[in-house]
Amino acid sequence: MEVQNNNPPVQTKAWRLLAEHQRQVAQLRLREEFTRDPGRAQRFSLGLERVFIDFSKNLITDETLSLLLDLAKQRDLDKKIDELFSGHNVNTTEQRPALHTLLRENRGQTTFSQEEREKKRGLSPISEKKRGLSPISTRMFDFVGRVRAGQVEGSTGKPITRVVNIGIGGSDLGPRLLVEALSEFHQDGIDIDFVANIDPFDIERVLARADPETILFIIASKSFTTTETRVNATRAQSWLTENGCNDTGKHLLAVSANAAAVERFGVDKDHFFKIEDWTGGRYSIWSCIGMSGAISIGEDNFRQFLAGAHAVDLHFRSSEFGKNIPVILALLSIWYNNFLDVGVHAVIPYDQRLERLPAYLSQLVMESNGKSVTTEGDRLEINTSQVIWGGVGSQSQHAVFQFLHQGTRRSSIDFLLPLDNRHDNEQHLLLVANCLAQGEALMRGETNTAEPHRHFDGNRPSTTILYDRLDPYTLGMLLAMYEHKTFVEAAIWGINPFDQWGVELGKNLAGRIAGELAGDEPQTSHDSSTQQLMDKYRSGSA
Ligand code: F6P
Repeated sequence: MEVQNNNPPVQTKAWRLLAEHQRQVAQLRLREEFTRDPGRAQRFSLGLERVFIDFSKNLITDETLSLLLDLAKQRDLDKKIDELFSGHNVNTTEQRPALHTLLRENRGQTTFSQEEREKKRGLSPISEKKRGLSPISTRMFDFVGRVRAGQVEGSTGKPITRVVNIGIGGSDLGPRLLVEALSEFHQDGIDIDFVANIDPFDIERVLARADPETILFIIASKSFTTTETRVNATRAQSWLTENGCNDTGKHLLAVSANAAAVERFGVDKDHFFKIEDWTGGRYSIWSCIGMSGAISIGEDNFRQFLAGAHAVDLHFRSSEFGKNIPVILALLSIWYNNFLDVGVHAVIPYDQRLERLPAYLSQLVMESNGKSVTTEGDRLEINTSQVIWGGVGSQSQHAVFQFLHQGTRRSSIDFLLPLDNRHDNEQHLLLVANCLAQGEALMRGETNTAEPHRHFDGNRPSTTILYDRLDPYTLGMLLAMYEHKTFVEAAIWGINPFDQWGVELGKNLAGRIAGELAGDEPQTSHDSSTQQLMDKYRSGSA
């Protein structure tokens, strides 16, 4: 069950060849390549069901792609994908599998055999076989149905009409993205709110408009020890009491892997939804952490969301690397990050509903792959995660595109664009035109020697991801594509994408400083900068 040895990727032949090849590609002019090679766009494009990816505006040649594919093979990607899907302990520092793909499996379309599955820990093959989903999800959908039917009542007998998800990181970004992206699929009757920040403004803003008789707080926390979530949940609990609620249990629900902590907090058993420890925080939207999203869009739509992701799982598991979307996206990012010194990657959806996608992907990619050591504990001498940033088009054009077109640093880019047009024809056409124009302009550039400030180098890479319409299925596909892209990057670098030890030091120090600021703990020694800032806080004035 152990993951195999992982030598540093620089030791592979393909890595060395790519480093040499990079010098040739430095001369590549995309504009000329398109003129020279009429088949370029078609050759460097891939489709899967409702999604189409044009990656021809990237700084690659056939040889680049072939060397990158060799790299994937030489890094044993095939085997690593198998290990992921078949429940090996791919999360090596925590000795756990990462089985988010299991949560979106359905009957008749399994990504791995029953025998393989039975070997895994903590699963219930019988119920999965029956429903195609774990019993946890079945319970979730029953609950979702009852809330939607007005059958879940608060302490005074009134039905629940507002759900507030209290969570942070993966326990917030996923459900929040889902609810906002699929707002057209929102079913009336239940309003959904989110509270994440430890900043009291966040929860007070929500409480100010809430009715204690009809509210349900979903405390979403895998660990149930996260300070922000614990503090906000405690505030919600006290607000309920302050507002005359005599049975707070009716207004609290918990989703967590930590049953004992949930019980200590006082959540009723029938309001507790357990997730497995193999559900990583940033991979948890497919589990009961997605409860608020499921309440918003209903069971059928949520199942469609899972089905879209599952379709990508099947594609990822079975397609040859050259036709495998997550693999190609990951190889492009490795090409930029490790060979062309492009350390930033912009995600620009020309889709207002995906405004939260860049933030979601920042956590997915940067918390997964912002690592400095291999799974063997060796320090890496190469860069890992790109910086993921972005915003929606067309607003971003009027804010950050200057940097993309003329800045000295280059950024690789994903444009995302829906083709459906249910609103005003001309407005959608303009949206499309803007997206396509940006990709073309970045690639072509424009020479202007007389006025250097009007000169555009061009040759700036982008990938365009088209989809028919943003529905639950497609959203599931897009998120799974990015998840697997992240996994492939990690597999090639030889790092563990499923832990996040980098957040611990700051967390611990915050606890210590909080104790000292509150006067509960004796003052310890800090650097003079931190000390000065603490003194300022105590004095109450900047
Ligand atoms: O601190 C990082 C992190 O553990 C993320 O990985 C996670 O998504 C977030 O905090 C919230 O964690 P939890 O769901 O355990 O509250």
